[in-house]
Amino acid sequence: KVVAVIMVGGPTKGTRFRPLSFNTPKPLIPLAGQPMIHHPISACKKISNLAQIFLIGFYEEREFALYVSSISNELKIPVRYLKEDKPHGSAGALYYFRDRIMEEKPSHVFLLNCDVCCSFPLQDILDAHRRYSGIGTMLVIKVSAEAASQFGELIADPDTKELLHYTEKPETFVSDLINCGVYVFTSDIFKAIEGVYNQMRDTSSNYSHFQYATRSVPADFVRLDQDILSPLAGKKQLYTYENKDFWEQIKTPGKSLKCSDLYLSQFRETSPHLLASGDGTTNKKPMIVGDVYIHPSVKLHPTAKIGPNVSISANVRVGPGVRLINCIILDDVEIKDNAFVINSIIGWKSSIGRWSRVQASGDDNERLGVTILGEAVTVEDEVAVIGSIVLQNKTLNASVQDDIIL
Ligand code: GDD
Repeated sequence: KVVAVIMVGGPTKGTRFRPLSFNTPKPLIPLAGQPMIHHPISACKKISNLAQIFLIGFYEEREFALYVSSISNELKIPVRYLKEDKPHGSAGALYYFRDRIMEEKPSHVFLLNCDVCCSFPLQDILDAHRRYSGIGTMLVIKVSAEAASQFGELIADPDTKELLHYTEKPETFVSDLINCGVYVFTSDIFKAIEGVYNQMRDTSSNYSHFQYATRSVPADFVRLDQDILSPLAGKKQLYTYENKDFWEQIKTPGKSLKCSDLYLSQFRETSPHLLASGDGTTNKKPMIVGDVYIHPSVKLHPTAKIGPNVSISANVRVGPGVRLINCIILDDVEIKDNAFVINSIIGWKSSIGRWSRVQASGDDNERLGVTILGEAVTVEDEVAVIGSIVLQNKTLNASVQDDIIL
């Protein structure tokens, strides 16, 4: 038996996702029409002998209650939300719930960050781990040298794949091989975390040894990367499995547009029935370009043109002549006649007026400039919203550019 744990963090962590994260925890914001954590959860479902999935975070339980019960029913796998009373760090949080996680005596525990986008080759990681032995195997990927410094950089033995050296977000370049935030461990990981706790306790009563006394985080906070991976590297305990498929981290709304795109193209292979189709030649269906997800409850005018990379959630109404490109439209939005939305995320219950334009200030997702409308924003007719972030419940009756509307 194996179990999976997904670290979902808490409200203090999602600040870059404002205003979308005001009413919805970041892990539940839809990408490709499904909550962000739906993608790792459905990957877990494919592991053989998976007994349970735990989501660990410090959001209020009620925020996840509806999602965990519906996904448990849908996948026929128990998915439980475990709430920490306060943040314990990525390893501390795992340790805090060790008795719940080990209840069914699993042989292995998968650990996944909620904010990474990839194809989650979990079974392959487990198979590799069984060959290497050791206490854990982590998914790694090569990125450009410039990008690497935002992640954990590591050195692995090219033959044995052993993790030889690990540094979290180093200031000077170590390696272009980085930590993807996806791991499998044996139960020995709990002993390793316990070891760090014991060491911290010993050093706090022994001032001559200041390795942990100089930590800038609370005493019961243990980080998987700095406190576990770094000291265990080079001790034949940790191994790496190189990801050959797509991988992105989802820290900003701009990245979420990119990740939505990656998941939509993955649907082409894994779940083509979720993708919309239509060539605009029949009068009943709008023209669909590239990969597009449209919830079955959406009302689309046949003269609209949609795609590529568009996902439209439940109960959205799209009027005649509307053009949508590279955007995420959340539930209950209304987009009126001839409006144009590109490189943007439109929050729940918002309304876009006739002949209005909502767009980024550049045409590159990654560089600043994606427009985000919070919940229940009204853009009146013939208004342009360019590269702006608009907080919930605002009404825009004049055009704005590169602005934050509070
Ligand atoms: N439950 C809980 N409690 N979750 C937490 C806590 C905590 O106290 N702290 C962080 N998390 C969750 C976050 O929500 C995220 O899913 C994951 O743990 C890692 O978050 P961070 O520790 O903030 O690290 P990071 O995202 O900046 O970087 C990590 O992931 C990168 C890959 O995305 C590092 O491991 C990097 O090395 C790695 O490259």
